[in-house]
Amino acid sequence: MGVYLSLRVASLAALLALASCGGGSGDGLDSNGRPLPPGGGSGDGALTPDLASIQSHVFTPICTACHAGGSAPQGLHLDEANAYTMLVGVPSNEVSSVLRVKPGDPDNSYIIQKLEGHAAVGARMPFGGPYLDDATIAVIRQWITNGAHQATAATAVRSAAATPPTVGVSRSEEGI
Ligand code: HEC
Repeated sequence: MGVYLSLRVASLAALLALASCGGGSGDGLDSNGRPLPPGGGSGDGALTPDLASIQSHVFTPICTACHAGGSAPQGLHLDEANAYTMLVGVPSNEVSSVLRVKPGDPDNSYIIQKLEGHAAVGARMPFGGPYLDDATIAVIRQWITNGAHQATAATAVRSAAATPPTVGVSRSEEGI
């Protein structure tokens, strides 16, 4: 009887262990349980719509092969130190009426036109391919739609949460 019981307990524990393995966000899924966008390169974890993630998955491993250093095409540097200031709110060289990244408006952001291959001038990016897959471009679009912020979404959420609620007008003015 005692042996039987402990066997039962052991197999129950094994079942529980199996069940807990299957739960949660498994490998290959993002935090919403969707499959990870393929392609992107060597960044850690899933590609997410924030600049740090796009930098480590796309700009650094793929674009800086050309877009870095003194001979960067169109003067566009996409290394970590320069990407934000070279992109956001900056007119493109090829079509100066179109910003490279127009916050909130991916369709009118030149980088998206270049990545999707319908810019008015020049070739699709990355030049000569292989091109980014739709899922990767969709994440870059989402970053732009969200306002093309420099900080990660997580940082922005954290600092918003850390801001104490304002109780009265005079109090909030004091703080600033
Ligand atoms: C193999 C080299 C190469 C790679 C890799 C490459 N580019 Fe380019 N890029 C170029 C060249 C050359 C031009 C200019 C000629 C053209 O537009 O066809 C250019 C132009 C551009 C422009 C236009 C800039 C302006 O101000 O007019 C953008 C935007 C751009 N690339 C984005 C990217 C992005 C984003 C990546 C990575 C996903 C990338 N490129 C990867 C060579 C490259």
